[in-house]
Amino acid sequence: MNNNENSNGIRAIEWADGLLRLLDQRLLPRRMEWLELEDCGAAADAIRDMVVRGAPAIGITAAYAAVIAARDRYREDPQRWRDGFQRDLDGLAQARPTAVNLSWAVQRMRAAATGIEGDPVPALLQLARTIHDEDIRANHAMGEYGAGFIAAGSGVLTHCNAGALATGGYGTALGVIRSAWAGGRLREVFADETRPWLQGARLTAWELLQDGIPVTLLVDGAAAHLMAQGRVQWVVVGSDRIAANGDVANKIGTYSAAVAARHHGVKFMVVAPTSTVDMSIASGADIPIEERGIDEVLECGGEPVAARGAGAWNPAFDITPAELVDVIVTEKGVVENPDRARMEALMAE
Ligand code: MRU
Repeated sequence: MNNNENSNGIRAIEWADGLLRLLDQRLLPRRMEWLELEDCGAAADAIRDMVVRGAPAIGITAAYAAVIAARDRYREDPQRWRDGFQRDLDGLAQARPTAVNLSWAVQRMRAAATGIEGDPVPALLQLARTIHDEDIRANHAMGEYGAGFIAAGSGVLTHCNAGALATGGYGTALGVIRSAWAGGRLREVFADETRPWLQGARLTAWELLQDGIPVTLLVDGAAAHLMAQGRVQWVVVGSDRIAANGDVANKIGTYSAAVAARHHGVKFMVVAPTSTVDMSIASGADIPIEERGIDEVLECGGEPVAARGAGAWNPAFDITPAELVDVIVTEKGVVENPDRARMEALMAE
């Protein structure tokens, strides 16, 4: 599969003619504008500032950014390019703390650079393209595995955006929804708006509508009421990091949806490639949770929405304990009722 094929659905990351281009997700759905990244520092800024977001997508961006770093450092000094390259990679890895796909991709690029003689660009570009292609393939596999759990006539609720925009293409949670929709299994798709960045309202709704999949938006606080009415049988979400015991970090509000789902007998599915699984972290308690600026809460679309003088708290992610997760879907297979032993068995495959 060629990751630059536009015919195969929405793509937010492109490498063409030696340039890394990112679809500026901050502007969607109003405008489609692409940013061309000049250097590795610009890629780290783009990750931090949410031009590109979603765990697999920021990992893929970092892989291409490492190619840019190697190219620039090698041009500067073909003998000692590795010193600056390592510093550039350190900066990339620190751009956002929660999604482990970022440090996973940086680590893969770092390791590949170790054995290279001469110009590092061809080998590193090949690896970045592989990381991108592997992600798309994983999403299609997960789409099929996940859709297999969903009975015909089901309603599903998703949170945030775990779609093509958040990955190399096709999506994790939205990959399952795309596959289930294509298989005629879904009665209705609901998306939480996902305050404060509105990934559900702006990105998930846009993506699904591009594919002709009808979607109904609700404010995050309406999710439990939706479940109480029996309108959804599954909550399907992505993840930024899954700990060794199956605890799941994902967009703030995921945990509330999981608690409400268990209360109402609604099943809870997490869809993520194994690049999101961090077996070095024993439980969700040790996953670093990004806290973003309070203006994101006090304002909406740049307009103040809160009483002047109010404080705010803005954790970008939360932890859903493994016991609230019915199934984790990965490209290697699925883990029902996850715990440490089952996660170890999956990762050993
Ligand atoms: O802050 P974001 O938009 O990067 O958060 C994204 C999410 O929480 C996604 O659900 C997660 O990264 C999985 S994307 C396939």
